[in-house]
Amino acid sequence: MERKPLIAGNWKMNLDLDEAVSLVNAIADSISGFQEVDVLVAPPFTALTAVKQAIGNSKILLGGQNMHWEMSGAFTGEISGKMLQEIGCTHIILGHSERRMLFGETSEVIDLKVKSAVALGLVPILCIGETIEQKEAGQTFEVIEDQLVASLKNFRVNKDLPPSTVLAYEPVWAIGTGLTATPEQAQEVHYFIRKWVENNFDSKLAQQIRILYGGSVKPDNVKELMSETDIDGALVGGASLKSDSFVRLIRFQEV
Ligand code: PGA
Repeated sequence: MERKPLIAGNWKMNLDLDEAVSLVNAIADSISGFQEVDVLVAPPFTALTAVKQAIGNSKILLGGQNMHWEMSGAFTGEISGKMLQEIGCTHIILGHSERRMLFGETSEVIDLKVKSAVALGLVPILCIGETIEQKEAGQTFEVIEDQLVASLKNFRVNKDLPPSTVLAYEPVWAIGTGLTATPEQAQEVHYFIRKWVENNFDSKLAQQIRILYGGSVKPDNVKELMSETDIDGALVGGASLKSDSFVRLIRFQEV
């Protein structure tokens, strides 16, 4: 099954409004007419409206970086998926390791968020990944499985996870560190994740679902990573903040 690659930029808490708009304009210019890869940007909340406007008719997809699972209510400081959808987001990053580690998000909370996103018609980009301690203790597969089981609990009951769902394997030790999993290491985990989807849902869904790799993806390692069978794209932090490096990632086939 052919899965269209997805290159997603997670801008995290970076860029001011002018920078955000210039970056998305530059991306739109350089990929005009380019259909081979889906491209997504996830700006900070405050830049979403301006970035949406700048995207205009370009095919760039817009994602949020986090959301609350309720539609509205007394949740000071939170943003709902519905609000994000209202300003043009079609995707939502959920369970990023920074949310899990710095803001105490558990897989149980992430499960609620994935459920709410899907109910709204937002495409979840669900992140999973092990820490360096877990990797060194040989627990990578166990951790990944536990996170998948708990973060997709709601969907395993009815076996109704939409095929558009995106999973992102992001080894925590590779995020922002310059250390990347080797293509072989990443492929091994991606294969494991796809098998897990097959065993817990079905083989059709396992073949349809896109699994991104994230963690220090750069123009000089993207092509090798993307050549692996089960790697369908990249979730990129640092290298998504500059148009030249991000565009080189999008055009990885030409590198
Ligand atoms: P990085 O971040 O590319 O800067 O390692 C990836 C991520 O956190 O999604």
